[in-house]
Amino acid sequence: MQEQARPVQYSQTTITELMIPSYANFGGKIHGGTLLSLMDKVAYAAASKHAGNYCVTVTVDKVEFLEPVEVGDLVSMHASVNYVGRTSLVVGIRVESQNVKTGKVKHTNSSFFTMVAKGDDDKPTVVPKLILENREDVKRFIEAMNMKKIREAMREQMDDAKSHIEVERASQILKDERCILQTN
Ligand SMILES: CC(C)(COP(=O)(O)OP(=O)(O)OC[C@H]1O[C@@H](n2cnc3c(N)ncnc32)[C@H](O)[C@@H]1OP(=O)(O)O)[C@@H](O)C(=O)NCCC(=O)NCCS
Repeated sequence: MQEQARPVQYSQTTITELMIPSYANFGGKIHGGTLLSLMDKVAYAAASKHAGNYCVTVTVDKVEFLEPVEVGDLVSMHASVNYVGRTSLVVGIRVESQNVKTGKVKHTNSSFFTMVAKGDDDKPTVVPKLILENREDVKRFIEAMNMKKIREAMREQMDDAKSHIEVERASQILKDERCILQTN
């Protein structure tokens, strides 16, 4: 039987992984895709623990790699369920990279994964309510609610922008851009 509600702490998850040479890109830094894959795993772990069900990733917000991650660093990903809807959850992930020799820790990025819980019938299924036990929990829940509204408004604006592209006026619209029009 599914629990009525679970506190944020119940599903908080951290994974730490050593950045080995095979994770590097041609510039010698850790590949962004490797970090994204690890973020997806930790988001999944936190979301499915809270939900008590398998979850799928729907959207990822705010992926900005602020600092490069080096080979040999220990990367820790801290995941916390910030918000729950009816069947969806928003998991906040803070990524930190530690140089093992100096002990210096860099905050490389914070991102938000929206996941949806699926039942045995592969359909979205209701998740337990989230128990907010302190000011930080409350702040993150409201922040996620606000971000959800912004994302929905942005999606509408983007759909609108896509449906109103005036290709006929391209020479005027693109006159200051770094492209060369060679269309007939
Ligand atoms: C995510 C998925 C289950 C949504 O299915 P759906 O039929 O649209 O389901 P619903 O309309 O009932 O929405 C379910 C929840 O997803 C949320 N959702 C749907 N589309 C969303 C989007 N683009 N962004 C954010 N949330 C979204 C809804 O708000 C709803 O949340 P709520 O119950 O908390 O209010 C479905 O699109 C899916 O299975 N996608 C594939 C996911 C996957 O495989 N990911 C792995 C990467 S390949």
